[in-house]
Amino acid sequence: MINPTRIAQVRAAEDARFVAANPRSAKAAQDRAQGWHQGVPFHWMRDWPSPFPLTAAHAQGSILTTLDGQDLDDFCLGDTASMFGHSPAPLVRALTEQVSQGLSYMLPSDTAATVGALLAARFHLPHWQLTTTASEANRAVIRWARAITGRSKILIFNGCYHGAVDDVFVDLRDGQPETRQSLVGQVWDVRDHTIAIEFNDGPALEAALATGEIACVLAEPVMTNCGMVLPQPGFLALMRTATARTGTLLIWDETHTISSGPGGHSGTFGPGGDMFVIGKSIGGGVPCAAFGFTDAVARGMEAARAHLPPGHSGIGTTLSANALAIRAMAAMLGEVMSPAAYAHMTDLAAELAGRIEGVIDRHKLPWHVARVGARVEFECSDRPPTNGTQARAAMDHDLESLIHLMLVNRGTLLAPFHNMMLVSPATTMIQVDRLVANLDAALCELE
Ligand SMILES: Cc1ncc(COP(=O)(O)O)c(C=O)c1O
Repeated sequence: MINPTRIAQVRAAEDARFVAANPRSAKAAQDRAQGWHQGVPFHWMRDWPSPFPLTAAHAQGSILTTLDGQDLDDFCLGDTASMFGHSPAPLVRALTEQVSQGLSYMLPSDTAATVGALLAARFHLPHWQLTTTASEANRAVIRWARAITGRSKILIFNGCYHGAVDDVFVDLRDGQPETRQSLVGQVWDVRDHTIAIEFNDGPALEAALATGEIACVLAEPVMTNCGMVLPQPGFLALMRTATARTGTLLIWDETHTISSGPGGHSGTFGPGGDMFVIGKSIGGGVPCAAFGFTDAVARGMEAARAHLPPGHSGIGTTLSANALAIRAMAAMLGEVMSPAAYAHMTDLAAELAGRIEGVIDRHKLPWHVARVGARVEFECSDRPPTNGTQARAAMDHDLESLIHLMLVNRGTLLAPFHNMMLVSPATTMIQVDRLVANLDAALCELE
């Protein structure tokens, strides 16, 4: 494995290289200190592994250009929001047309019918509602599941992330549930109504569901937010049969696993759920998200509301389903997220995964690579994690953040949070070649 002393030496050199190469970004970071808390408009932007965040000038397709004029091969792609490339032409056309026609009406625009039909056809669910973010869509489906089933508890998997959703922040430490330690201002005990178990643990799943207390299982079909954890054969099918048997709603959060194929992971490989959440990329960067559901869920919603007085539902916000978002989704679903785009993304991602495996072999590292369609992840551990605990144990922050910095210093941008790489319809083989060569060079230097 890689020696910590070497990591510290290389880190100092790479920090200096980054500072020297990005004087305008450095100046912009200083300028932002006036007005922006910690110099950024959103605190996640502090999470990049560099001494200060790069300042973006513009982006197109799979290239992000910094204020210092460097063209980066962008494999982060806005952490999935721009997974289909930055500013694809159909999206630009649609937004340009809408921009002079009003942006938010609190009425459906005539494009809404098109988008409803596109969502239903693509994801095989008849009913849809929109929100502004995937976090908000997840909050909505949890509320609906509780209202429909009359049960208060939800079940999630250790290590999951479903956005800024209080209910899901339960971790397992040594097998015991605890509220995620990093939460800010959390004053109620999330564990009261949330059960966390390990992904791929069939007996734990069956035991939790057998209590009859669980309203819904909220899950990604492949865990993508703690490195990547693939489902073991039969686990997703078990989730489907065990939830159906116990009257529990199965909710697929496919915000990230839309990388699997045009219908997301469940639409491509099955099994289908009772509800489906999708966000980020369906607006191509314009904030919007959607949740879909079956006829039975729709009937359950109507029955649940029939017992309630009129008033606030706690679901949705003023900008949900605004005209700009609807127009963006029409362009993305109708023209950009096409089977041809997926074919390119998936083939190139498979090539990327294979090539990274080659680099890992060449350096005799015990690491491995996981892939879900157009999403690739390398993990610096000796065996693929099968659950959140193993995934957490596999992470080596100092080493991984240094590799990210070395890559960015050589022209390749990875997502800041873990070793995730997205291949867009605009990504080229040359960019894959460069990523692989840069990773190889970084590992040579670390030896
Ligand atoms: C699986 C999943 N669901 C939901 C979200 C929340 O998305 P947003 O931050 O756009 O609300 C994320 C964000 O990373 C996610 O990975």
